[in-house]
This record gives sequence, C-alpha cells and structure tokens, in this order.
Amino acid sequence: MSEPEIENLLSETRRFAPAREFAAQAIAQPGIYDEAEDFVEFWSKQAKSLHWHKPFTKALDFSDAPFAKWFEDGELNVSYNCLDRHVEAGWGKRIALFFEGEPGDSKTYTYLDLLTEVKKAANLLIKLGVRAGDRVAIYMPHIPEAVIAMQAVARIGAVHSVVFGGFSADSLADRIQDAGAKLVITADGGYRKGKALPLKPAVDEALANEKCPSVEKVLVVKRCANEIAWDESRDLWWDEEMALVDKEHVAQGFSAEHPLFILYTSGSTGKPKGILHTTGGYLTQTSYTHKNVFDLHEGQDVYWCTADVGWITGHSYVVYGPMANGATQVIYEGTPDTPDWGRWWDIVQKYHVNIFYTAPTAIRTFMKLGSKVVSHYDLSSLRLLGSVGEPINPEAWIWYRDVIGSGKTPIVDTWWQTETGAIMISPLPGITETKPGSAMKPLPGISAAVVDDDGKVVGNGHGGYLTITQPWPSMLRGIWGDPERFKQTYWSRFPGKYFAGDGAKLDEDGDLWLLGRVDDVMNVSGHRLSTTEIESALVAHPYVAEAAVVGASDATTGQAVVAFVILRRSQLDHTGSEADITKELRDHVAKMIGPIAKPRTIFVVSELPKTRSGKIMRRLLRDVAEDRPIGDVTTLSDTTVMDTIKTRVGLGAED
Ligand code: WTA
Repeated sequence: MSEPEIENLLSETRRFAPAREFAAQAIAQPGIYDEAEDFVEFWSKQAKSLHWHKPFTKALDFSDAPFAKWFEDGELNVSYNCLDRHVEAGWGKRIALFFEGEPGDSKTYTYLDLLTEVKKAANLLIKLGVRAGDRVAIYMPHIPEAVIAMQAVARIGAVHSVVFGGFSADSLADRIQDAGAKLVITADGGYRKGKALPLKPAVDEALANEKCPSVEKVLVVKRCANEIAWDESRDLWWDEEMALVDKEHVAQGFSAEHPLFILYTSGSTGKPKGILHTTGGYLTQTSYTHKNVFDLHEGQDVYWCTADVGWITGHSYVVYGPMANGATQVIYEGTPDTPDWGRWWDIVQKYHVNIFYTAPTAIRTFMKLGSKVVSHYDLSSLRLLGSVGEPINPEAWIWYRDVIGSGKTPIVDTWWQTETGAIMISPLPGITETKPGSAMKPLPGISAAVVDDDGKVVGNGHGGYLTITQPWPSMLRGIWGDPERFKQTYWSRFPGKYFAGDGAKLDEDGDLWLLGRVDDVMNVSGHRLSTTEIESALVAHPYVAEAAVVGASDATTGQAVVAFVILRRSQLDHTGSEADITKELRDHVAKMIGPIAKPRTIFVVSELPKTRSGKIMRRLLRDVAEDRPIGDVTTLSDTTVMDTIKTRVGLGAED
C-alpha cells in the first residue's frame, strides 16, 4: 500500500457495535477470549469436538521448535469427520452441496450422496495403487468432483496437491515433480466466461517427454465433453472407473500429524513453496473458526465461499472447515460476470444464502459497477459477510455492508495465509465492535504481535511487522522437502516468532490494521505472486536481457503486476512495434506461469535503478508505476537513471 492509502485507512473513525439480536443468537459468546487464556488447553478442548479413532493424550509438543506437533498420539480420519459422522448422526439427508455450473446446470448432493461418492473414489484410488503418504495432484475446475477427489485422497491417508486450474502446464509440471505425484486427477475442461476451457491438454503437456516420471495414471472427469487427446496406457475416465468400484469403504484412523495436503504458494524467491499441512490441528482450527467466525448454525444456514478449491481458502473454507461442521454450502463453477454481472446475486437469491465469504477485489469490482446490478435481486437472506485475501479499504467495506448486507450484516474481515491454514485475526460477530478496514484482533487461542525492525513489540498507535508469537493448531508443518527454507523464511527474521511477511499497525485501541506485504510478494486480486517468479519468466524469453517486476496499487485488483524490461535488441526476430513485443512478453508470462501472472503493463527501458551493490531498487520503480514523484535516489549508483526511465515509460504498453 502507498503512504497516502495507509493514511486514508488509518483516519477511519466509523465504528459498528454488534447488533443485539445478532449477539443473542451468536455461536461465539463473550467470555471466549478469557476462556482461551491457556491456549493449549483451549485448542485441546476444541479438538475434542472432532471424532477421534484414538484420543490424544498430549495437545502440543513444541520441543523441536519451530516444528510443532499437535495432538500427535491421537488418530483420526479427516473424511470420516467431514462425512461419516454426520450421516451416522442421522443427517444423511441434509444438503451438503448446492452445485451451480456456469452454463446453468445444477446438482444437489446430500451428506449421504457425498459420502457414497467419496467412498467409491477412495476405493478407486486404492485400486490405482495409491497408498497412505502417496501424493496425488488435482487439477480441476470448481466442481463437486474436485471436492470428492480431495476428500477421497484424505480418506485413505494420501496427500493432495491441488493446482489451481488457471496455472500453466509448466507450473503444473513443476508442482507435480516437486511433490512426486503418482496420480493426476483432472477434467476435460471447465466452464469459464461462457466457454469450455480445456484443462486436460495442460496435463498432457506437463507430462510429455517423461517430464514427470512419478505419474502413473491420469483420471479424467468428463465435464465439457470437449475434444481431448487420449493416452490409452495412462488415461482413465473417472465415471467409467467409479462405476466399477465397491461402494463400501471403512475409514481408518491416522496420526493427527499425518500429512493432509501440500499447497504451493509464492514466496520471495522464484520457486514456489510447497506448504505442508497435517490433519488433527488443521481440522480443529478450520472447523472452530468456520463455526465461530461465520456464526454457522448447522442445519439452518446456507453458506457460500466464492473461493476456488485451488487456493487455501477453498481448502479450509469450502472443503474442510464447513464439511467438518456439517454445513450446507453453495459451490459455483464460473465467473461472476457470466452470463452477466448479476450471476452471484442470482445465486444468493436462488439458494437463500445466509453467509457469504469473498475477496475485496470482487467487492471493489461490484462497487465500480454500481448498486444497480445488485438491486434486481433479493439479498435479504444474507446475515453475515466475510472478506479475505487482501486488505479491504473502508469504502469497499462500507459498500459491502450497505449494499450487499442491507446496512445491517456484521462483516468479518479475516486475516490469514496459506501458511496459517485457518483464520488468525478477525472480529467475532456478535462480540467484537468492528471498524471498516480493520481485522481487529487475534482470535481466541491466537497470539500476534506487531514488532519493529529489532523485533521489539510496538505500542498502540504504532506500526511494524506482523508476527505470531505462539504455535497454533493449523500452522504449516514445513515446506515440502525443504526444512531449512521453512526455518529461514518464517522463523529467522524475528527469532522465536513466526513472521508473516505483512506490515500492520496497532491503532490507539490496540486493534490491528493490515497494511499489505513487506516482502517481494504481490497480492493481485487476492492471489499471491512473487516478483522474482515473474522476473525469471521474463528473462527466460530470448528478447529480455533484464527485468524488474513490482506490484503497483490498483483500484480494483489491490495490486497489479508492472514489469520493467531491458530488451536484448540483437535477439529481436521481427520488426514489430514495441506494443507487439510487450504483448508477446505478456503472453509468454501467461504461458510460463498462468494468466493470473500476466503483467498489466510492461515498460521497455534502457536501464534499471540499482544500488552500488547491484540490487534493483523496486521502491523507485513502484513510484514510476504508480505515477507519483520519485523518492530518494541518493543510494543509486547512477542517479540520472530514473530520469531516463521516466522519459521512456510514456511508451509502455497497457491494456
Ligand atoms: C493477505 C489467503 C489484509 C496478506 C487466505 C497475507 C490479507 C496474504 C487478509 C496471504 C486480510 C489475507 N487483510 N491482508 N483480511 N487476508 N491477506 O496465502 O498479505 O493466498 O499474507 O492466503 O494475503 O495470502 P494467501
């Protein structure tokens, strides 16, 4: 965030006390913070609301810090907790999923339906040779089979690595290789923006030329019936195979520290990190937070989180937290603008959605479109709104509450990360007074501190770096295959504390305002991208000699990718305009990483601002990208370089 934006944020004075009627029925009741004074005891109590095949005797072992073990000698089965126990409790007929396909098809799954499918899928995985601990890559559209596949992998103790369907074949191949996945589950395609978007071809490309030797089979869900290539020795249709397997499967217990999934996320180096989560602690915190932060009254509420299963929000607040709580939820395959911008609100009206969870980018997009789009729909069922993924500016917060929430719904601004696994900082509805733009305070059982450069805790009214000071159940257990990088990345900057990579400020009341990333990670539409990763993709193109990427503020997407490149003129094999070249480079990034990483703007420059030691000064490039006066240039090796760049940028291509 830029300085003026931060100032604007912190001058916010509006306050919203919890409504009395809401508070009276709320799941979270006052006293909960006091109850959590002993955090280990608190989480231990929450964990006991899960079903344990074998009870744990010790809640936390942090003797090998920063590697934590929660509930380690206990055994549970995640899928049993999400499905079987609800059916056994007599809720088999309760709706688990209302699926809405983008073309308008819809399908409903009860808990019993889902359990039956997951049992079959578990048997299918076993038939294909998948065993506990094996990795399975999932590259799917946002359809029920993705949820079924994840639950089935979890059920047999295997480990899923879901790769968002918007990632390229190269990104998919990297992730398959890093995890050593044995099986890939995909679909022929998925619907997006009114079209069938093929997925299987990217899997074919990722596996071509023996690039991923660990993969034995590819299971393909038929969603769009689009033409796809077929490898008889490797590819299998999901439907055909599911018809052949047994319907019965008994879930067995695994240690609470048994791995559940790997999810890759961008860090400040070029190589994405495989964040590892395990079962008992993860399910404890995702289910607790889902119930208390969203005030879920199971059997009554219809809940909808718009995140794709390809992101952590889709893991924790579509697949695991809600299902562990026996929630009834909506999943929607497509984009909010198809067939028109009323689509989401039409879905809210159709399914009488009560609890709605989305990202600030989406809220700002709707705000820009104006309230009219929304006014055609009956949104009176909504009683709680959530926000996640990036800082929400006060204007968007107020608009969300006024227009989507009819001026009455509580808003929970939830701060967390792929690494934290579950919500960490958020108001509790019915208890916490809210301030537009503030995530307020750590949840019960969570301890955070804002510290200065030297790691000293700052007082109220001051800003610094956000850290977490005590272990929490859903914390990452490491980076897949790289324990050193785990320690280095998260625990070395401030010894003994987990450093989240975010800046934050405590206001005079001690409430938290998140100020965005302080490292080389960008946040575009709530999706994490690393500047280095995109720079590596750019310099891999023969035209590019050097590249620097910055995240520039963007009114809709929060940040946008802006690249500065120095061309290798001798390599240009066509005489096209600079606009043609930058278009080619943007497409190249989309091909290497995925369309979400495509730079919004590429500026061709002749030099980059560097310090005497050769470090690129991204801060100055950000000034250019955000079109404001250039900051202090005295540490540059050549102080005139910024003038040259400023003269050049008029030629940048944008669309
Ligand atoms: C940012 C998404 C401000 C933050 C769940 C964090 C937020 C990164 C918020 C994690 C919020 C997430 N307010 N910033 N409520 N929620 N962030 O791993 O910078 O995709 O470090 O997890 O998103 O992104 P990730």
